[in-house]
Amino acid sequence: MSFGLGHGKSLSAGEIGLTMDDLAPMPDAALGPAGDPSLAWIDPRGWFEDASASFELEIGSGKGTFILEQAQRQPETNFLGIEWAREFYLYAADRIRRRGLTNVRMLHADATEILRWRMPPGIIDVIHLYFSDPWPKKKHQKRRVVQDAFLANAHRALKAGGELRIVTDHPEYWVWMEAHFDRWSSAEGVDGLRFDREAFTSEKRAHGAGEGELVGTNFERKYAREGRPFNAAALRKPA
Ligand SMILES: C[S@@+](CC[C@H](N)C(=O)[O-])C[C@H]1O[C@@H](n2cnc3c(N)ncnc32)[C@H](O)[C@@H]1O
Repeated sequence: MSFGLGHGKSLSAGEIGLTMDDLAPMPDAALGPAGDPSLAWIDPRGWFEDASASFELEIGSGKGTFILEQAQRQPETNFLGIEWAREFYLYAADRIRRRGLTNVRMLHADATEILRWRMPPGIIDVIHLYFSDPWPKKKHQKRRVVQDAFLANAHRALKAGGELRIVTDHPEYWVWMEAHFDRWSSAEGVDGLRFDREAFTSEKRAHGAGEGELVGTNFERKYAREGRPFNAAALRKPA
């Protein structure tokens, strides 16, 4: 099947791509108030040649520019990109496959659901969330990735000392994010869990970021051309 994004070429996810059909079904015993959530966990580190390598997750990879560059320049780390739009998932996976990278997998899924249900605790070194859809209409804000439930699930899935890195161009979504970050990085945290909030310093910049860029994604480049300012943060799970 070919998509407009592929400029008429036929795209193939090959061994890079996984879909929900590749995951074991959710067992009923994991669900409900008396369910055991651990029965639904799938360890994605097992999808890579070296399952013991450090492991990073990108949520909403779009055309895959960040993950492609980062994985190439950080070959000792395994990267999983989760993208729910099929045409972008396929486009990114095809690019990675053609580059011959063995340390990247792309999953066609809702990343918030994967984090909520399928990700075992304490396995991720870094979660990257760049230019997440802002859903500006009030009635759509529940679709935003950044929510208390998401932060709780990210906290659970991160290793101690691991971090969630976020960049956005959207001023109103940033206000929303900061309100969440303030509570999550307060002394009491949220439901007993907390993050240390850190600046997005130059050591967190993506390897493929160009002059004046933080992460070098397609949306960063597009919005930079439009002159939009960006905001960024890193939330570290205390060691
Ligand atoms: C605005 S684009 C940014 C893409 C890329 N990160 C960049 O900076 O160029 C947001 C991307 O996140 C994807 N996305 C949004 N919510 C998602 C979710 N819950 N799970 C997986 N992908 C998601 C969208 O399909 C879209 O490709």
